[in-house]
Amino acid sequence: MTISMTISIDHRQWLRDRFGRRVQFDEPMARHTTFRVGGPAEAFVRPQSAAEIRMLINGAAQRGIPWAIVGGGSNLLVKDGGITGIVIALTPYFKEISLVLRESRQATVSAQAGAGTQALCRFAIERGLQGMNFALGIPGTVGGAVVMNAGTAAGWMQTVVKKIRVLLPGGEDRTVDPKGLNWAYRRLELDPAIYDRSSGPMVILEAFLGLVPADPARLKAEADALLAARNSRQPTRLPNAGCVFKNPAGGVSAGELIDRAGLKGTRVGGAEISTKHANFIVNTGHARAADILELMTRVQAAVGERFQVGLEPEVVVVGKEINGQESV
Ligand code: EPU
Repeated sequence: MTISMTISIDHRQWLRDRFGRRVQFDEPMARHTTFRVGGPAEAFVRPQSAAEIRMLINGAAQRGIPWAIVGGGSNLLVKDGGITGIVIALTPYFKEISLVLRESRQATVSAQAGAGTQALCRFAIERGLQGMNFALGIPGTVGGAVVMNAGTAAGWMQTVVKKIRVLLPGGEDRTVDPKGLNWAYRRLELDPAIYDRSSGPMVILEAFLGLVPADPARLKAEADALLAARNSRQPTRLPNAGCVFKNPAGGVSAGELIDRAGLKGTRVGGAEISTKHANFIVNTGHARAADILELMTRVQAAVGERFQVGLEPEVVVVGKEINGQESV
């Protein structure tokens, strides 16, 4: 067990006074990640409003406490020693999805950052709005999908996200239009004139999606076909965090390279390279983060040696080893 170093007894009292039962101390992150691994967050807080997030972030800064945001924990590997400081969860409160505008040829839907990406896909199908089906089966929250520019062969967040609302490090609540959004593969960056990364993390609060009216029955049929195809190619039964590595430049996917290196089924402790799709690592029951990290290192070494390709993780690794160093 790691001893809390950053959050003092006074800090705990401050958080308890402000958040009551919405703060937990030494909360196992294994409960909040789809890998189902990860040591404790010193404090795990669920704010209910943008004003509460602002107050929390300001208060943490004044007290010198580090903080980080989690969405659905679906692209996240938390190390076994846990996370120092405050983890801010946008679930379950920031989950509203609503129709902002509907015309004959276009519609705008707003989704708060803590809404499930699948809930957004279902909302669009039920309302007869086309444009979100590409994201069917992608776990996690809208905020996570936006910041990662989540995508599949059928589309990307960047094709549907028209504007986002963010909380900037100075506390400004700002809506950023397309000119301010710089999209890349699995990444969104804001125009540096709007957001200077060195001033601290920002928080995505809400996304506005541009969709197109369509026949709900046709959308549903397309959705069923896409989900069936996904289920046949990717492991869905065991805990995982989606694709572990980004696809490298050069056209051959990470999954194919790992497969051709003969690594499917390789195990370390409770972690296994999926026998169904080689770019997935599954938790077969009692994996530790260290098992998954060891498998990732082995994959990088084998693919590097065999194909001279350096695979870059897509999964975000945070936290510290047991009795060890924090990685951010
Ligand atoms: N392949 C193999 N062996 C494997 C897996 C794949 O040979 O074990 C081959 C396939 O036969 C295919 C090629 O690799 O020819 C590409 O595979 P796939 O169609 O499964 O797509 P991918 O590039 O591996 C990407 C995204 C997925 C997304 C799928 C489906 C990345 C890193 N991955 O996978 O996203 O679901 O397309 O559209 O961009 C994620 O980001 O977490 C993720 C799972």
